[in-house]
Amino acid sequence: MKILVIGGGGREHAIIWSLKKSASVKQVYCAPGNAGIAQLAECVPLQVNQFEELSQFALDHAVDLVVVGPDDPLADGIVDHFEAKGIPTFGPRKNAAEIEGSKVFMKHLLKKYNIPTAAYESFDSYEPALAYLRKLGAPIVIKADGLAAGKGVIVARELAEAEQALKDIMLDQVFGKAGNRVVIEEFMEGQEMSILSFVDGNVVRPMVPSQDHKPVFDGDKGLNTGGMGTYSPVPHIPQAIVDEAIETIIKPTAEAMVKEGRPFRGILFAGLMITKDGPRTVEFNARFGDPETQVVLPRLKTDLVDIFLATINGRLDQMDIQWSDEAAVCVIMASGGYPGSYPKGLPISGLDQMQQSVVFHAGTAEKDGAIVTAGGRVLGVTALGKDIAEARAKAYEDVDRIYFEGKHYRTDIAKKALV
Ligand code: AMP
Ligand code: GLY
Repeated sequence: MKILVIGGGGREHAIIWSLKKSASVKQVYCAPGNAGIAQLAECVPLQVNQFEELSQFALDHAVDLVVVGPDDPLADGIVDHFEAKGIPTFGPRKNAAEIEGSKVFMKHLLKKYNIPTAAYESFDSYEPALAYLRKLGAPIVIKADGLAAGKGVIVARELAEAEQALKDIMLDQVFGKAGNRVVIEEFMEGQEMSILSFVDGNVVRPMVPSQDHKPVFDGDKGLNTGGMGTYSPVPHIPQAIVDEAIETIIKPTAEAMVKEGRPFRGILFAGLMITKDGPRTVEFNARFGDPETQVVLPRLKTDLVDIFLATINGRLDQMDIQWSDEAAVCVIMASGGYPGSYPKGLPISGLDQMQQSVVFHAGTAEKDGAIVTAGGRVLGVTALGKDIAEARAKAYEDVDRIYFEGKHYRTDIAKKALV
């Protein structure tokens, strides 16, 4: 079997690492890939938005299955494009990917089907939005409607901060047209948890839960990033709460999408807040999380290719998906300055000295035979252990063996789970 994976981050590296364990996989291509992915797959110099060139490549190379990693091409309809050419593709169609692509769509859907989430209103003009903001007061959350590279959500502790955010998004258009509409919603207090599920229309097969760390600095200080580290399982959140989230949020959402004529096939990623009143939806994504995937897939015992094919072909109900009892921790090593501006092209050393971790590359490239930094998030060092404490210790020991100028990582990944 020949597979083309679209994307080039740590998530795609983890997907390919997992696919390569399958006996049915003969060849993996990745567009555009990165220096770590190049060790497992043939990287193709095409960008994720070059739909025509990508589908032509898949046809020319007799690719049997395409797997789409990132949100942007999904929201732009890459799956519809590939399907129209007869190429089997794993991921939601454009009308289903809208659950991530438009926060207004997602919030309306949840309200219509009575699925637990924060109370909200949506606005397409500034004055009424401002009036509503002032009525509710802080703390409050402002969200740009469209995709904004993970930066379109402002959790404002003070009213002045909320007003500034609204002005930035709606008047100054700092996120471009993603900010033509906004969602203003109630602030929810609690622990966050992510549950990714394989979904084939009505059938939902949840993966093991995980938790991300979005702010750039220890103690959840500083600006939000794409994610600075993850762990799985989430031992301090009881299984009964996980089950409640699956029954009251994830399954009803998949059913709602079917009822709306937009059946979701792919990875439905629920970002949840565990409040004192139970689990509530923070957001839905239409794809694997990054870096959630880097701790979830290493715990998967079932063949990932079989699961992807079962999802595409509507046979998920027949799949028995097994997970290992081990814990996994992923520590992201980022470029100094991220999520602001940062240098690129700095040599990375120590990658050949990993003793107990797998390193999933995110922003790396090859230059004159050496591996150099090429993005904000550079590497994700992932270790497995009998529990979180062991996995965490192993990951941090290997993080210490890697060097690039300005390297930055949080030292408190998974600390909350050390109970
Ligand atoms: P999102 O990009 O929608 O995942 O939001 C980014 C982060 O903002 C989430 O991971 C939460 O930490 C936080 N957040 C979003 N919505 C809320 C809310 N209603 N209450 C509290 N925190 C929120
Ligand atoms: N780690 C959060 C995300 O993938 O959106």
